[in-house]
Amino acid sequence: MSHADQPMPLSARRSGPLSGQALVPGDKSVSHRALILGALAVGETRITGLLEGKDVLDTAAAMRAFGARVDRTGPGEWSVHGVGVGGFAEPEQVIDCGNSGTGVRLIMGAMATTPITATFTGDASLSRRPMGRITEPLALFGAEITARDGGLLPVTIRGAVDPLPIRYHTPVASAQIKSAVLLAGLNAPGETVVIEAEPTRDHTERMLTGFGAQVRTEVTDEGRMITLYGQPELRPQTVAVPRDPSSAAFPVAAALIVPGSAIRVPGVSRNPTRDGFYVTLAEMGADLTWENDRDEGGEPVADLIVRHSSLRGVEVPAERAASMIDEFPILSAIASLATGRTVMHGVGELRVKESDRIDAMARGLEANGVTVEETRDSLTVHGRDTVAGGATVATHLDHRIAMSFLVLGLASEAPITVDDAGPIATSFPDFLPLMRALGADIG
Ligand code: S3P
Repeated sequence: MSHADQPMPLSARRSGPLSGQALVPGDKSVSHRALILGALAVGETRITGLLEGKDVLDTAAAMRAFGARVDRTGPGEWSVHGVGVGGFAEPEQVIDCGNSGTGVRLIMGAMATTPITATFTGDASLSRRPMGRITEPLALFGAEITARDGGLLPVTIRGAVDPLPIRYHTPVASAQIKSAVLLAGLNAPGETVVIEAEPTRDHTERMLTGFGAQVRTEVTDEGRMITLYGQPELRPQTVAVPRDPSSAAFPVAAALIVPGSAIRVPGVSRNPTRDGFYVTLAEMGADLTWENDRDEGGEPVADLIVRHSSLRGVEVPAERAASMIDEFPILSAIASLATGRTVMHGVGELRVKESDRIDAMARGLEANGVTVEETRDSLTVHGRDTVAGGATVATHLDHRIAMSFLVLGLASEAPITVDDAGPIATSFPDFLPLMRALGADIG
């Protein structure tokens, strides 16, 4: 599935039982970080299991533009010859991060304390997303930044000549903000401190430690406090990227709602900063069996067996939002087939993802016969015995909206069509063949 300029509509129809094994691709968050830290280490980092989705390929191209040598050596196998902390060269071209908020925000952080200038741009979706949340802390390091009105892309950053370390409270729970500050802190002397009220995914901290940086995490009254000691020499690593729990959520959800299904999903993350969806499913009565707990690429993982289940609606507390922030679209899709209502609290951040995901899910569900209520930062889905389906859903260049409705279509009365499946290639290029191999009728 490549994202051509032309929209690519796709429909999902009621399917027979799903079975088999779902080998989902590498974790998107870990893949971006492996390329960026590889580019900031001195010497050759080897990566296996890299997600070869468009978002990550755009980050690979950006690392080349900043002077790293980045080569694909086999399927999912990449080699990165890094230039060292502070060693980025000034790119000759504008850095186009496509659809990827993670890519653009982390790369801005990684270059903001090196005395070079770079301009960042992206697609129509990324160009609507807030960058002020990143450029504000980067300016505190001494970087000079210009953006379009409202803090939007294109953004130009003149990296700080004499960067100062900062102490920063993240204003919203966001691993992207935390990570941008930590990556900028790499080339500032002394201690850079980030404090987050709610824990967010901790892949940056884990991987920085793996590359030899000194990172300390403490739980304080103010929240989680992460301290990075600046100007380390990062040592190249071998990074085995674990599978992506956010991608796994789609086949898992499909098996839960299609009667008679039983599938196996190997290597699902059990990292407590990423597992909120699976905690919620257990509360909804999902039949989940975890086997073979182990460590892969510095992340705790296990194999998951999931069977069709009668789900009941639940209240998802605001404190859990960060640990499942990308899974709310698929949760709201399957909540429409649960008994009773599912209320998702504290999900305002969904409004500034690849699309306004509260609005996109609400409109798409309503169009397919489901009753929903929304506030600025909550979404309530009223479950029912069957979902009518039959509508075409606007996906707004959002891969997860597209996949969520294609999954729901596997169990709705009439087929569900998405207006453009192209963006699925940003995070899950093999979604279609993988789902079809399980028995899903999508085409
Ligand atoms: C990500 C963090 C999350 C998430 C995104 C990936 C990351 O964004 O939605 O898909 O890799 O750090 P926020 O940190 O802005 O919530």
